[in-house]
Order: sequence, then structure tokens, then C-alpha cells
Amino acid sequence: MKRLAPILCLVLAGCEGKASIFAPKGPGAGSLAGVGLFVTVLFSLVTLVMLGLLVFVAVRRKGTLAEHAPYDAGGGQPVILIGGFTLPAIILAVVFIVGLVKMDDFPLDGHMQGAKPEIRVIGRQWWWEVQYLGESPHFRLTTANEIHVPVGRPIEIELLSHDVIHAFWVPELHGKVDLVPGFSNRLRIQVDEPGVYEGRCAEFCGAQHANMRILLVAENPDHFESWLRRQRRPAQIPEDELAMEGMKLFETRACGLCHTVRGTRALGTVGPDLTHLASRRRIGANSLPNQHAYLAAWATRAQSLKPEVKMPNVSDFTGQELRAIAQFLNQLE
Ligand code: CUA
Repeated sequence: MKRLAPILCLVLAGCEGKASIFAPKGPGAGSLAGVGLFVTVLFSLVTLVMLGLLVFVAVRRKGTLAEHAPYDAGGGQPVILIGGFTLPAIILAVVFIVGLVKMDDFPLDGHMQGAKPEIRVIGRQWWWEVQYLGESPHFRLTTANEIHVPVGRPIEIELLSHDVIHAFWVPELHGKVDLVPGFSNRLRIQVDEPGVYEGRCAEFCGAQHANMRILLVAENPDHFESWLRRQRRPAQIPEDELAMEGMKLFETRACGLCHTVRGTRALGTVGPDLTHLASRRRIGANSLPNQHAYLAAWATRAQSLKPEVKMPNVSDFTGQELRAIAQFLNQLE
């Protein structure tokens, strides 16, 4: 089956290596890829047989259609019974059973095995709130959009929504699971290789659905633990004057009403927590690079970069103020 994958990838659109369901990096996606390949090959064979039969009939046909009318309705029922009912029933039953067995290999939800969620992901228009639940509230940590997990063991994720229905999908790791308002869903993933995996929202949720992207960073357990420790710390208080000015502006102008930067007076909960923004790879729910110029542009003109995003344009900053804010955000490691 594995050898067929590259051939299928040439045939099937949208599976060019990156974030492909045919390049699984964990047991969940592995099962799905197995069933996917099996079904694709099986139904391709069925299609070939059907086309072959059509060609056979077309070549064998004698006389015109008019000469055959009225056609003889008697006879042929066994062919219909076998070809139209028995064979499809067997094939669909096999697919159903293979699906059930594979689903059982690595269940999407560890609830039945008593697994407790370690991470809670809350879908919001149009970003992901990420909470690390920890053993006690003291260890709870809130971040956004970039999800870090340790490799080599199953991670139970609780999925909630703050507004409309979203869907969490990292193709290389597992299938899609919806985030439904007022309802708690679960997703269990296991990543076998360290790496950065891209995912996205897979349920249309409004104007910026396409820019509601996920970055899932899988690390060795000790790297993950040290990441967790760094993230739990409050924000870096600036040492240089410009960043200090930026922090004051962040606290006193619009920014702090919507964003939290732990350790400062900015405590808003409308937008993503920015305490360790500079440690993240991308901004705007992973739609833009996390670079100085993009940060400054985002701070004043979010609506141009991501139209209809909940973050308004904040156009009353002077050039100096904007430089200060970008400087402050840039040092939030
Ligand atoms: Cu969230 Cu589509």
C-alpha cells in the first residue's frame, strides 16, 4: 500500500506532501490514511470494471437501438441481482468493517479509556484560544494559535467554541472534529516525529475562515516541558526606553482592553493572549509572518490585512508610538 502512495498523490489533487493525509505522522492519521488508500484503490478498481463492461457492451452491440425496441424485459435478473446488489453489498460491508476496525486502532476520543483533556482549544472568529489545563489552576496557561505538544504519547484535547461552529483539522495527525457552541468535543492525537504541522479550520465560519490556521509544534518531551515553563512566566518587562514606552501605550490605549499580557496592566480577554507573542512563529492566527513590519501594520491596519477581523484599525498612533508598540511586542519572548 505504501508504494502506491506516490502514484495516488500524482492522481489526487491537494496532496503535495505538505499537510497531506497520505503522509501521516501519527497513529490516528495513519489509520485514516490506510482506510483512505484502501477505499481509493478498491473503488478505482470498481470504476475500471464498470468502464470495461461498458466498452464490452458497446463493442458487442449489433443493430440499431430502434431494431431492439421494444426490448425484451425477460431474463437478465440474475446479473442485476449479483452485479447490482450482492457485489456492492459485499464491497460496502467490507469497507464498513475495515473502517470500524481501523477506528478502533486509535480512537478519536480517549474518554472511554478515562483520559482527561490536557489541552483545551476554543474556536473563535477567527483564531484559536489554547489552554493548557495542568494538574491545578495554578498550572493553567492560556496562549493562542500555536499549539505545542510532546511527541510519542496520546494527547487528549477538548474542543469548544466561543461563537459559531469551527472544525479542528491537522491532516497529518488526525481527522476533522467540529467545535460546537455549548458542546464539548474531544480529539486525541499522537505525534510520532518532532516537527511543525500545519492545520486549519475546516468548517466555514465567516469572512476569515480561510485565515484561521493552526500551527502544531511537536517536540521532544524535555523541550516541551521547558517551553511550558517559559510560557507560564509573566511577560518580559522591557529594558530599553522605546519598548517601555510601547508597554505604557499598550496598557493605556485600546490594546489592553482586548489583549492580555500577563505581568502588565493589559488584561483583556476578547483577543489572543500576547504574553509570549514574540515566541510564536506567525501572527493573525498564523496568516502572517511574525516580523516587525507585519506587527506594526497589524497594530494599526488589521482590517486591511484580515478584513472583518474583530480587531479594529487603530489609526491614532503616531509613527513614534507605533515603533514603540512594535518594539514592545517584539521582545515578548
Ligand atoms: Cu473557524 Cu472556519
